[in-house]
Amino acid sequence: MADIIDGRAVARQLDDKTKAQVDEMLAAGLPRPGLTVILVGEDGASQVYVRRKIKACEKVGIHSTEHRLPADTSQDDLLALIDTLNADPSVHGILCQVPLPDHIDTRLVLRSIRPEKDVDGFHPVNVGRLSTGTGGIVPCTPLGVMILLESVIDDFVGLDAVVIGKSNIVGKPVANLLLDKECTVTVTHIHTENLPEIARKADIIVAAAGAPELVKGDWVKPGAVIIDVGITRIKGEDGKEKLVGDVAFDQCQHARAITPVPGGVGPMTIACLLANTVQAAKAQLGVHEGETGNLYHDAPDRSMHSSTAA
Ligand code: GUN
Repeated sequence: MADIIDGRAVARQLDDKTKAQVDEMLAAGLPRPGLTVILVGEDGASQVYVRRKIKACEKVGIHSTEHRLPADTSQDDLLALIDTLNADPSVHGILCQVPLPDHIDTRLVLRSIRPEKDVDGFHPVNVGRLSTGTGGIVPCTPLGVMILLESVIDDFVGLDAVVIGKSNIVGKPVANLLLDKECTVTVTHIHTENLPEIARKADIIVAAAGAPELVKGDWVKPGAVIIDVGITRIKGEDGKEKLVGDVAFDQCQHARAITPVPGGVGPMTIACLLANTVQAAKAQLGVHEGETGNLYHDAPDRSMHSSTAA
């Protein structure tokens, strides 16, 4: 039976580490890391996400500020605010929640955030650093995917990894991170032929296609590790709504380990945002850390992953 990778437990562990780093910084007389979140407009889902992000900061001791701007805010006013925040030494991370209203050029706005403060890892400089393996800030969901993989895999060298989905936010960065770990990576997408056959060769499957229960049991090699990034609300057979991932979870019990939906990748995203904010603060304050080559930083505690047989 597959181990269920407990994203909530791994996220809690990461939060504990982030909080310990904040405490260490304060004990060393350094300023408290600060994150500013910008929300333009009234999008309901965005309001919920922003509230969660702000609340999470409190848990680990990051100072958070919030700028809620009306939907008709001009692009120039938004860029002027970002300029001010870019220049403010107490702000180490800037996150501009997307989607932005249609009259605003999202790419221009995201590019206007200083790369060192871009805790989303969306700035082309950070994208370039990631794709050349030269550091920078890693986007939160791909970072979460890698930390979950590191929580069950010791040695990635030579493993066959198949990424399903080629988005700039998940598929491409995950592929780059897996390459950095010396995996043999195949990136697949909606036009890929023989996808089941390709997936069946994989030691690692990262499903990020946004297609509910796309990956069937017979796409999965026995002993593979599956990370399911998808999350879609569908109507179940009983007529009730439920959340499902891109993987037919119940069919994949011959995997070695699998993330559930919900409770897998989802909880990692905010934990990684907090970790990125502290990393950004340290870099801006000139604190240098040893490179472990492991995003998880030290040997993960694997006791939290439960077997489906239990
Ligand atoms: N909207 C939904 N998810 C995200 C995210 O991770 N970052 C930003 N900036 N906006 C989002």
